[in-house]
Amino acid sequence: MDDNNARKLKIAIGSDHAGFYLKEELTKSLLDEGYDITDLGAHSVESVDYPDIAVAVAGAVSKGEFDRGILICGTGIGITIAANKIAGIRAGATSDVYSAIMSRKHNNANVIGMGARVVGGGLALEIAKAFLDTDFESGSRHERRVNKINALDK
Ligand code: RB5
Repeated sequence: MDDNNARKLKIAIGSDHAGFYLKEELTKSLLDEGYDITDLGAHSVESVDYPDIAVAVAGAVSKGEFDRGILICGTGIGITIAANKIAGIRAGATSDVYSAIMSRKHNNANVIGMGARVVGGGLALEIAKAFLDTDFESGSRHERRVNKINALDK
């Protein structure tokens, strides 16, 4: 996807308390780079349950209110597991750029999860940009496989 199209995406971001500081840093970095990103909380380090944040962000993506979602908890694992329970969501827990690119090319991921106790701010920004800037390889064998994932929602 060229840079201008990636910056037209409507992106929702959310974290639990463990991911709060990384979410703040990543949101600012993405805004500075021209992405259209909306913070759906948490809004402090007060303890919250990561499934509630997953529902807020992934639920909004599922309803079509946002094109993509970024979720952050301590490991990126719990919040991604929760997101994948929502119909229409294909979420990958990712702590490297290659996986972020492939989550788009092969899996058409619409949500990504990261761990604030796993990745630093610089890497998180590169992962997020890879996730936002990469297109799905539609019309390929990957589309057939993603359609089979989508059928599991029913
Ligand atoms: C919170 O301590 C932690 O369990 C949570 O952020 C996440 O890592 C769960 O998967």
